[in-house]
Amino acid sequence: MNQLLEEIYSTKSVKDMEGNSINPFPTATPYDIGIVLKNFIQKYNLERTLEVGMAYGLSTLFICQAHQDKGTGIHTAIDPMQNSMWKSIGLLNVKKANLADNLRFFESCSHEVLPQLLAKREKLDFAFIDGSHHFDYTLVDFFYIDKLLQVGGYVVFDDIWMPGVRKVVSYVLRNRDYELVKIDMKTSIWKGLAKSTKRFLQNPLEQDYGRIRFIFSNICVLRKISEDNRNWDYHRSF
Ligand SMILES: C[S@@+](CC[C@H](N)C(=O)[O-])C[C@H]1O[C@@H](n2cnc3c(N)ncnc32)[C@H](O)[C@@H]1O
Repeated sequence: MNQLLEEIYSTKSVKDMEGNSINPFPTATPYDIGIVLKNFIQKYNLERTLEVGMAYGLSTLFICQAHQDKGTGIHTAIDPMQNSMWKSIGLLNVKKANLADNLRFFESCSHEVLPQLLAKREKLDFAFIDGSHHFDYTLVDFFYIDKLLQVGGYVVFDDIWMPGVRKVVSYVLRNRDYELVKIDMKTSIWKGLAKSTKRFLQNPLEQDYGRIRFIFSNICVLRKISEDNRNWDYHRSF
């Protein structure tokens, strides 16, 4: 594993350009989720990856490390506040970890960058959505990512504890040809049940796609089965 990542998680701190320590949590991706992302990309040999939301760059480090370990692959990260809010620490970390060759970075909003990638006819095998967690922004991220994603590719939604994010996942599963993918992540049954209960209590009357509430992890992985082939008037409540 990457030495910088080990250091960040053991000390629970990242350093800015002046060497000041900052606790990256709870903004940053937890270690167990980072490992799942890295292993997943390596296991399925996913070459063209993208993430919305970089912050201190912890998910970026795991994903770029996966590419470096495979020997090929390029990761695209998008974050409009890398400098203004995160003091460019994400980019600094990638450089420190010698992973800069595996990264392409855009300092803009995802709703501005993703259409540009689409116009250039780019393609993706994997995307991690961890930017703005509002329903509308998450849906727009998915909309463009779906158009960039190859059939058989994967999209991962972070923070499904948030009702707005779950609503997007629910929309996708009810209206689009995607399937839920089981991930290898050990969570105690009690912690898992506590999460499910919380999700139910957040929104008891919502008709979330039922199974999402019972995913014990905070991420949810979907696989694209086919291109969009809905009838013009197709709609299922979500
Ligand atoms: C939870 S943090 C990401 C954490 C990061 N993935 C990690 O593992 O450390 C959410 C990020 O989304 C970014 N963000 C917010 N709105 C965005 C937008 N419209 N487009 C892209 N990124 C956005 C924020 O600047 C922030 O860095």
